[in-house]
Amino acid sequence: MQPILFDDEYWSQRYQAHTDAWDMGMPSPPLTQYINQLTDKNLRMLIPGCGNAYEAIYLLQQGFANVTLIDISAYLVQQLQQNPLLQQARILHQNFFDHTEKYDLILEQTFFCALHPSQRKAYAQHMHQLLAPNGKLVGLLFNDHFEQSPPFGGSANDYGELFSTDFYIKQMAACYNSVAARKGRELFFILTRK
Ligand SMILES: C[S@@+](CC[C@H](N)C(=O)[O-])C[C@H]1O[C@@H](n2cnc3c(N)ncnc32)[C@H](O)[C@@H]1O
Repeated sequence: MQPILFDDEYWSQRYQAHTDAWDMGMPSPPLTQYINQLTDKNLRMLIPGCGNAYEAIYLLQQGFANVTLIDISAYLVQQLQQNPLLQQARILHQNFFDHTEKYDLILEQTFFCALHPSQRKAYAQHMHQLLAPNGKLVGLLFNDHFEQSPPFGGSANDYGELFSTDFYIKQMAACYNSVAARKGRELFFILTRK
């Protein structure tokens, strides 16, 4: 098991204090656009470090039937479990690194950047384990660096090097449809399991 550098208490305190500047209050447009072209509503989907889970609400509204959410913050998970819009989702209070199931699609959105860089290799390896043979890891990564962290940033080169052991990098490109505050600072990526 990985050491938890930012734990339940850290994240719960941030949600309770509303120091959650990452929260966009809406699903991420690059992800909704990606979701819109999916046809198989039975895909087994996972959103780790789901936060307020706007993408999950969007998925459920589009008729996706098999959505699992994981977050380490007990405070947040309790809120999610009371949200009527998320009743069809499976919501787990868990450390991502302790989760062991198989998924067809895992969505990434400001979870990777919330982890300490020392956990990145473990993130890549664990994502690989969680994906079914034809599974995909899809989402957004910051193409930026930050003075205060988390978030921990990086570049396409950093991520390419990190993921190429376990994944085929189908796409890792500047994101053209980011929200205004993240314009020019995000990469959209699609990785398939090796
Ligand atoms: C920066 S927030 C992003 C939340 C959400 N993805 C969003 O974009 O609004 C990072 C989230 O990851 C969760 N988290 C951090 N470490 C985790 C871990 N090891 N396992 C599961 N969740 C974790 C935090 O509680 C927090 O909700």
